[in-house]
Parts: sequence; C-alpha cells; structure tokens
Amino acid sequence: MCGIVGYIGQQEATPILIEGLRSLEYRGYDSAGVAVFKDGLNLVKAKGRLANLEEKLVDNASTGLMGIGHTRWATHGEPSDVNSHPHMNESNTIALVHNGIIENYLSLKDELEFEGYTFLSETDTEVGLMLVDYYYNQVGNLLDAVIMATDRIEGSYALAVVCKDDPTQIIATRKDSPLIIGLGNGENFVASDIPAILKYTRDIYLLEDAEIAVVTKDGVTILNEKKEVINRDIFKVTWDIAAAEKGGYEHFMLKEIFEQPKVIKDTLIPRLPLNQDVIELDQIKLSKKELANINKIYIIACGTAFYSGFVGKYLIERISRIPVVAETASEFRYREPIIDKNTLLIVVSQSGETADTVAALRMGKKAGAHVIGVVNVVGSTIAREATEVLYTWAGPEIAVASTKAYSAQLCAMYLISTKIAMELGEITDEEFSEIKEELYSLPSKVESILQQADYIKSLANKYINMKNVFYIGRGMDFAVAMEGALKIKEIAYLHAEPYAAGELKHGPIALIEKGSLLVGLVAQEELFDKTVSNIKEVKSRGASILAIALEGNTEIEKVADDVIYVPSTHWMFTSVLENIPQQLFAYYIACGLGHDVDKPRNLAKSVTVE
Ligand code: F6R
Repeated sequence: MCGIVGYIGQQEATPILIEGLRSLEYRGYDSAGVAVFKDGLNLVKAKGRLANLEEKLVDNASTGLMGIGHTRWATHGEPSDVNSHPHMNESNTIALVHNGIIENYLSLKDELEFEGYTFLSETDTEVGLMLVDYYYNQVGNLLDAVIMATDRIEGSYALAVVCKDDPTQIIATRKDSPLIIGLGNGENFVASDIPAILKYTRDIYLLEDAEIAVVTKDGVTILNEKKEVINRDIFKVTWDIAAAEKGGYEHFMLKEIFEQPKVIKDTLIPRLPLNQDVIELDQIKLSKKELANINKIYIIACGTAFYSGFVGKYLIERISRIPVVAETASEFRYREPIIDKNTLLIVVSQSGETADTVAALRMGKKAGAHVIGVVNVVGSTIAREATEVLYTWAGPEIAVASTKAYSAQLCAMYLISTKIAMELGEITDEEFSEIKEELYSLPSKVESILQQADYIKSLANKYINMKNVFYIGRGMDFAVAMEGALKIKEIAYLHAEPYAAGELKHGPIALIEKGSLLVGLVAQEELFDKTVSNIKEVKSRGASILAIALEGNTEIEKVADDVIYVPSTHWMFTSVLENIPQQLFAYYIACGLGHDVDKPRNLAKSVTVE
C-alpha cells in the first residue's frame, strides 16, 4: 500500500523521485506528491495518476538536491490533492510521507487540537506530521522529535521526514511497514520498496522495526529507539527490476497471496482496540434502534466478492437471527426484490466500480434501504454512494484473480456479523472475548498455512492432469468451495464445479469417473460426518480425494488420498483459513500448465459493463 521515495545527494532530486514513484505506482495510484528542498520546502501534489503530478511539475519546477515523494493508495480520506502526501506543517518547515495506518490517530488528533493544531486533511498521516511538529517545537531536533512521535503512534508506519532547518538529512523510520535505505556514492536514497532505487544502487540497508535511519548525502546511520548505533550488513540486490516490482515473487498473484497475513491484520486489528469490548467500524453508525428495526439483510456482489457475502449470510443468520439473502448483483437488480426502509443492503466490491453491484446499490437506496458498502478502493463509486462504508484494507490488487481482497472481505464479514450480534445483545461478553482473541490470531494462522506452499505445489503437480474438479462442502464450507472452484476455472482454465455436498447425489454424481478430483472441505465440525459420507460416495465411483481439514482431525485420512491441514479456529473463521490452500493449489496448477497467471484469458480486473 502506497510508495515512498527519498533522495539526498548531488543530483536534481525531482526526476529521481518521480522515476522512483513510477516504479512503485502499482502499490497505489490515486494521488502523488513531492517535497523538494531548495531555499525552502517546495510542495507539489496532485490527485490521480503520477502523470498528473508530472504535468503540475512542468509549471512548478521543483529544483533541489534533497526531497521526498509519495504515491498513495487512500485509506483515511478520499483521494484528493489535500489528502495526498507529503503533508507539511503550517510554517512549511517539516514535510512527511507515510505508509501504513496510524490506529490511534483520532485520539492523537483530539490531543493536538487541544494544543491548538488545525488539520487540513482527513488523513491519519497529517496527525503523524503534526505530532512530529509538536515535539520538534519542544526539543528543536528532528531526530528526537521523530523518535518521540513514533513512540506515541500505535499501528504501522514507514516514515520519511525532512526539515527546512536542517536540509542535510532525511529521517526515516518504520514499524510493520517496509522501508529500505539505498547506498550511493555522494548520494543516498530512502524507499518503501527496492525497485524505486534499483536504477541507482544495488546496495541496501534493510531497516528493522523501530529503527531510525539518519540519511545524509555522505552517509547513513542506523539507530535504535535509544539512539544507540546499529551496525547493519549491506544487502546486495541480485534481482532484475521486473522481478523486484513483484517483490521477488514470480507473479503478483503469488505476492498477493503471501501478503494476506498483513492484509488480514490491517483489516481486523485497527477495528478491535485492545482492552475494550467494542468493534469500531469506521463510519458505520447504524444505531441499536435502527438495527432492531431491520427485518431483512441483502448481501449483494459479483464473483469472488459474492462468495464472501455468502459466508456473511451464514454468519449473520446464525449469530444474529436476522434473515439474510446473499445474491449476485446481476440477478438481484433485474428481479423485484422486496426492499424498504427496514432493509439493510450490504454491497461488497474490491474495485467499488462493478456495474451490476453499483446498480444494485442505487436500486436499494432508491427503495429506502440503508446501504453499507464493503469496498477496497477508496473514493470509488460504491464508496461514494453507499450510506456508510467499511473499507477492506487490502491495498491495490494487481493480479486479476482476487485473493487478498477476498480474505479482507471475509474479515469484513466477521466484523459486521459480530458487530450486529453485539448491538442486538445476541452474544455475551465472554463470547465476544473469545471471538476477539481468535480474530487476533488469524494473521499468524494464515502465515503458518503459507509455510505449506511447497507441499501444496507438490499436490498441484500430482493432480495437474485431472479432467474435472468438484469442490464440495456444507454450510460455510460450501461457500468456500464456490470460491475454490472459481479460482481453478479463472486461472487454470479447468472445468470445476462447486456443490453443496448433500446435493451431489441429486444428479452431478453421474459425472464422477476415474480421473475426476474431488476437493472436500470439512472444517465445519458439526457437519463433518455428513460431508465424509458424501466424499465416500464419490470415492467409490473412482474419483481422487483431496481434503482440506482442521488440524487434529486425522479421521479424514481414512477417506482422503491427500489432506491439507489448516489450524483449528473458532467456527466463525474457518473460511479464511480453508481458502488459502485453494488459492495456492489453483496458482500452482495454472503455473504448471503455463498460463499467464496474472492476466488470465477473457478476464478484466474491474467489470464496469453489464
Ligand atoms: C475473481 C474476481 C471477480 C471479482 C468480481 C467482482 O477472482 O476477481 O470474480 O470478484 O468481478 O469484482 P469487484 O469485487 O471489484 O466488484
């Protein structure tokens, strides 16, 4: 999410910053900006693609040998000139760029407003800047001010900060968001990602969490929070630029699959403040009274986003006892669904631009429904038109086949369903604590599944020549089966069908023969025996069985040819864990078949036509 570049040396900074930002544009592209020092700090920012910033720079030539730049993927506040980075203090003496999310920005903002600060933007970043400014005014030293400010920040950050009073240095620091320092000759660089500076140097310092780099043109000093000097080995980059943009991964899809622990953390944790029994859902203000009047919920979306909504349906109905219809937008919009002011319509979309989903939203609003948009792209049509928005903080998804955005959408469903149940008094404090604890553990559980990638690759190689694939499960496992089958179709171009396990024998079982593969999802513990009976029916007709099961459930080995285990979890959250192996399985099969994984045939990333 977002890209940072910094330069200090003997060359004009602006072209180097722009070039660096261009190579990072895939990380965020809704606005960009640079602050370059000459006599003072010259700030130029523009909404939209980098080209808009370049156009602006033609008339506002920013000369100078030191500066910082940023390309943004909006999280807090819509894409606009004012919300874009760098942010600058009122006296135009300090400029700052930031990647990450400052989780406690609202309480910090209150504090700073009390101290007399005013804010121009809606961003968490401006709060970070003003905090640096506040401490700088106390101590008169940028390094100390940054250390004091970051000590107050909860959440993730990569920061590059410059100050007019000392233009010989850039202060850079990070926590849970990457930042590197590039080492040149008489010049040095700061970047959030290697490709931004690869043209100039292959010698890199990788900053660790909570480390601070003081970057001057002649040297770099890395310090810990106590200002003790840390000796760091130089990391030599050996990849080429094309590979580095993908962070060393062969495809964006694989990179995005591996980003999921972070995405899940970003989407969940800021909404679940420590030591408080609350879920903070951004702008969603649906009151207890309004919720009590809701008599029906529709969850409407397309494709993968729809499958996340299908999980949401199971969750909300089971824990809140409100009827939920999950339906594809293309169907919903052309029938005459019953909608009124007591209807809650949840529309889910990564892009926020899918034509059918937008139409469903408009239809719901016109009929008086309360509309919540679950959206990844800030400032998109759905984000703008929904009554309230819950953002999935997955960052830009480049691969056409959705992976990390789906996991973030599932997390949104976990949050929304739990929030509704809490407001309606359908879950106890103890149940909430249990849910919260489990949500906190999901990123590391996903991480542990990703460690099985080689094993899953070996299974993909084993089954690469299958003719038909059937994905089956019951309850939420069925919802996940739908996503598994879609992924195989999209990128491996194999015929795949998802079925509710109990439905198989009503017809489709006729298709099972030797050479078929059945992927059986058995994470719903109370439905385990039922699904296993269905798996046995298929096995006895010649299909191979690959099961996805919870750790500890070795019973499944009696019937399956192969098993992928995922960590056991609260019943509400099995979907996000079970789906990770499905993503990897589809990915490795598609690679094995030699397909263009990131740009599968016939597909577009954002479907803005009917
Ligand atoms: C599948 C996929 C699509 C999208 C669908 C909706 O991998 O990406 O099925 O999920 O086109 O798109 P959004 O979420 O942008 O509305």
